[in-house]
Amino acid sequence: MASTGSAPPALPRHVAVIMDGNGRWAALRGLPRVEGHRMGVRAVRAVSECARELGIPYLTLYAFSLENWGRPEPEVRTLMALLQEFLGSELPDLLRHGIRLRVIGEIPSLPLAVRQILSRTMSATEGNAGMTLTLGLSYAGRNEIVRAARALAADAAAGTIRPEAVTEDVFASRLDTAGMPDPDLVIRTSGEIRVSNFLLWQSAYAEYVFTDVLWPDFGKSEFLQALEEYTRRHRRYGLTGEQAGAPPAK
Ligand code: IPE
Ligand code: IPE
Ligand code: MG
Repeated sequence: MASTGSAPPALPRHVAVIMDGNGRWAALRGLPRVEGHRMGVRAVRAVSECARELGIPYLTLYAFSLENWGRPEPEVRTLMALLQEFLGSELPDLLRHGIRLRVIGEIPSLPLAVRQILSRTMSATEGNAGMTLTLGLSYAGRNEIVRAARALAADAAAGTIRPEAVTEDVFASRLDTAGMPDPDLVIRTSGEIRVSNFLLWQSAYAEYVFTDVLWPDFGKSEFLQALEEYTRRHRRYGLTGEQAGAPPAK
């Protein structure tokens, strides 16, 4: 080993994924968009399994954005049906593998049947100490931040919190991700290089990996490749490379 400086980051504690490209995957095959979503569920299973096997404690998957409600009604309906089906079939696996299910997003806007199965699955798995699998459903980062600000403003108006007591930690504790570490790595598939309102607060110092692979084609080897790229990064958090223990520039 050549360097005695700080080692490259080990595996991330929290990986978040913007699962994009289902529609284009289907279009390339002359199939309706919803077939892409169906195949996307397979990729969800493959990546969750890989993360769990590697011992990554937190995996967050962006499945449906608040903005996605604006899509054609039949597509939205199919996505909700797939979600319901996925949640309905996954419980035995989640329990067997000690996975805890969480959700982030504006939950009241989801259909009742989805909310019911979500709440059943979350209660059934809340004691699990293995990986935490979080689904972003009806999620948008700005919306989450506004909901947190509103809750704090209500507390301040009621006199239960002083404005000066609102620190970054207090604010973070009001976000949907309360108690979770910030994502170390955010992966986006399908070649789009944008954030699309995902984990805006939490990704302040996340590393991003963008890949052209469409989500239904994303499997274990693509996930491992993204993790490998992450381990080659040098996170500096605003410090100099030297302070952060990066190897000296050549
Ligand atoms: C991601 O795939 C899934 C959701 C956003 C629900 P898309 O449906 O966005 O697929 P593209 O981007 O149109 O190919
Ligand atoms: C982001 O994908 C949302 C999810 C993956 C759930 P979109 O396809 O909705 O994002 P844009 O519209 O390309 O930015
Ligand atoms: Mg898309």
